[in-house]
Amino acid sequence: MLTFDAVVIGAGAAGLHAAALAGQRGLAVLLLDHAAKLAEKIRISGGGRCNFTNRDVSAANFASANPDFCRSALARYTPQDFIALVERHRIAWHEKHKGQLFCDRSSQQIIDMLAEECRRGGVELWQPCRVEAVRHESGGFVVDSERGSIAAPQPVVATGGLSIPQIGASDIGYRLARQFGHRIVDTRPALVPLTVKGDAWAPYAGLAGVAVPADVHVESDAGQARFVEDLLFTHRGLSGPAALQISTFWRPGVPLAIDLLPGEDLAALLRRVKQDEPRRKLASVLAERLPRRVAEVLLAGVAHVERPLADWRDRDLASEARRLQHLELVPDGTEGYRKAEVTSGGVDTRQLDSRTMRSKLVPGLAFIGEVADVTGWLGGYNFQWAWASAAACARGL
Ligand code: FDA
Repeated sequence: MLTFDAVVIGAGAAGLHAAALAGQRGLAVLLLDHAAKLAEKIRISGGGRCNFTNRDVSAANFASANPDFCRSALARYTPQDFIALVERHRIAWHEKHKGQLFCDRSSQQIIDMLAEECRRGGVELWQPCRVEAVRHESGGFVVDSERGSIAAPQPVVATGGLSIPQIGASDIGYRLARQFGHRIVDTRPALVPLTVKGDAWAPYAGLAGVAVPADVHVESDAGQARFVEDLLFTHRGLSGPAALQISTFWRPGVPLAIDLLPGEDLAALLRRVKQDEPRRKLASVLAERLPRRVAEVLLAGVAHVERPLADWRDRDLASEARRLQHLELVPDGTEGYRKAEVTSGGVDTRQLDSRTMRSKLVPGLAFIGEVADVTGWLGGYNFQWAWASAAACARGL
């Protein structure tokens, strides 16, 4: 039987990086992937330009049942480390808003860079080659693949999450974890558009295609979260960065509190306008700050909407302002793994060593990247987790 020092299962972001680093340390590494094309998720990421990291990364940018777990790996492999690699390969990049870093040209450059790093490390790549099982055998492991069985003292599971099954996502990482006695934190689609049931959505359906800045807040058993980002109305619900971000923290039955005038004190504004321009109407004040269609939907059914502000009691204006800045919507679900950028939940990190990503239950076995219960915000954080967890693992092999 062929033997390698390490077998990395899954040649996505985390697997490629871990294999390259381990190979460059002198280990004999086999990297396996069942997809026909290398690292499709990197290719389609960031709208084809790969938001490969974020300048400003900390544990606060991740959701997990074990929030401190990611600290060590993130501290030991920073965005600057990955930027240095990108620059060594002369890949031009730029910063968009909120510290998000993208390739100037194409995400294919990141794939080519990682593949080249693997070649430099002498990594053997078998692709397409599905891994079917991993077994414990005489103190080591045997990885059963479509091209035969391989002996490996150190299998590294880098099989990612469940999102976008059409390009190779599989649940094998979770199955392997369970097989070796690991707990799985419930998996859910995350960074995903939210849907709202027909009746509740009817007033907003006409806004499909409209995007506005919004402050979206949720409080669920996953904790509380608030994001101020663009919110996009769709035919079925909410999308855009604000909805994707909040989806990671949303749970069924939980309402979202939405303020479509973030940072504005509407009550104070209306009091001022009432004093200075008493003949103005609520609709005209709102129309200056929101797209007309959005203002119309928000004011539909308001009894005194045609009255000048002078005719409103201060008390009523204040309560109307509160209502307008506190839209409550209860999503009935998400667009699912077909549309989700990531999977939240995964291999319970309380059973992994945060310095090496190795199992505390089964010596030698490691889990890196998205298969572990570490879910980054939108904005390059998930790739930074893939790079950092891969580096932590490779150092410990
Ligand atoms: P990844 O999914 O990359 O790799 C897993 C690999 O395992 C795959 O190649 C798969 O084929 C292989 N595999 C699965 N089962 C197997 C089996 N049985 N045998 C062999 N191989 C198997 N993040 C970010 O930070 N910035 C961004 O811009 C984006 N953009 C983005 C857009 C879209 C549309 C999506 C879907 C996702 C993103 N992401 C992102 C998220 C990011 O792509 C994701 O978090 C990382 O790719 C996770 O890296 P992993 O290596 O853990 O899994």
